[in-house]
Amino acid sequence: MTSTENLRDRVAAQLTRARDRSRLLTDAVDDHDLVRQHSKLMSPLVWDLAHIGNQEELWLVRDVGGREPVRADIDELYDAFKHARSVRPELPLLGPAEARRYVGEVRDKVFDVLERTPLEGHRLVDGGFAFGMIVQHEQQHDETMLATHQLRVGEPVLDAPPPPRGGPVGPAEVLVPGGPFTMGTSTEAWALDNERPAHQVVTEPFFIDTTPVTNGAYAAFVADGGYRDPRWWSEAGWAHVRKASLVAPRFWERVDDRWYRTAFGRTEPLVADQPVVHVCYHEAEAYATWAGKRLPTEVEWEKAARFDPATGRSRRYPWGDEDPTEAHANLNQRHLAPAPVGAYPAGASALGVHQLIGDVWEWTSSDFHGYAGFEVFPYAEYSQVFFGPDYKVLRGGSFGSDQAAVRSTFRNWDYPIRRQIFSGFRCARDASRDELA
Ligand SMILES: [Fe+2]
Repeated sequence: MTSTENLRDRVAAQLTRARDRSRLLTDAVDDHDLVRQHSKLMSPLVWDLAHIGNQEELWLVRDVGGREPVRADIDELYDAFKHARSVRPELPLLGPAEARRYVGEVRDKVFDVLERTPLEGHRLVDGGFAFGMIVQHEQQHDETMLATHQLRVGEPVLDAPPPPRGGPVGPAEVLVPGGPFTMGTSTEAWALDNERPAHQVVTEPFFIDTTPVTNGAYAAFVADGGYRDPRWWSEAGWAHVRKASLVAPRFWERVDDRWYRTAFGRTEPLVADQPVVHVCYHEAEAYATWAGKRLPTEVEWEKAARFDPATGRSRRYPWGDEDPTEAHANLNQRHLAPAPVGAYPAGASALGVHQLIGDVWEWTSSDFHGYAGFEVFPYAEYSQVFFGPDYKVLRGGSFGSDQAAVRSTFRNWDYPIRRQIFSGFRCARDASRDELA
């Protein structure tokens, strides 16, 4: 088999894997649940499905393949910039049967385009980039659809085995040495524009938590009156916590002195050693302040994840350069919850930091910006239009993310008030002179 055939097989397998997931998430509910809106924050599931097909048609059928449109008439309906999520149910969308037919028809054409396209010679197709971008796009929407499932009210429809058990993780914090490290990538074939280029960054030494903050630790902040004490909150955070009447992470509920949380239609006692999930940036920041720490910057997070002090180089993943396996990280919607801390010893970074990839997206204190040398590719709407102070960067992916769409260089972003996403955090702090001596 030639390397191009190999790459084609890999692309085809990834496209199929993404589609299997989309199908599972949309076949799990009836037509009524597919077309209705489960939250103003989310699109109807049937919009996500046809939007996945429409992006695939635009980039792979029309642009890469140079083929005639399948349905030029619906581009406008599925343009995410034209209609806010809140108004999408009012649009004359394709119905469930039509949407399924449409994405199937597009996919058939894409397999044909894949067979006939040389995966080299110009940047859009080098290394299968455009196909990889569409795989990641579908997987990102699969995570969004999973978040819609979490907001859906009704009988549970999704099932998965529980995550592996937790284990020992060593000291609570890890010292990351100061000095230069390589951030971002110029070599990862499917990396998106905002992850590029690789560049040197110098940090001071700092401490970072060995694991994400757990439900148990977060519950102590709640019990200590954390949500009622402005000392722990930024000005914007305090204004938000009051306006939105926040008292605990989303989907937590207190019954008879005990916390419960609801996930995918099932209500269970809070698991103390699982990472906290469904907190917004403001909540993460307030907890960190209460704990006498702060959130890591995006630079610090990536250094803790990738820097190998033995060689000085940055790895693709915390555990090394090989793709994730079940032993490394809680990804791919394999489990429908974050795993208890210490569940993935094989996934620890060279410095001994655990569960950086998978489980929960981790808020960082950084605004979303392009790196020095950033170049828009292939379109400004992928990330450049979001650069600026409105968004905070999240890192590492969650149990709802697919491994095709998560790397140690991968950057996600969202508004600091959002918490319907699978977001948690870990803390960091400066290292004092005494601690370094
Ligand atoms: Fe999209």
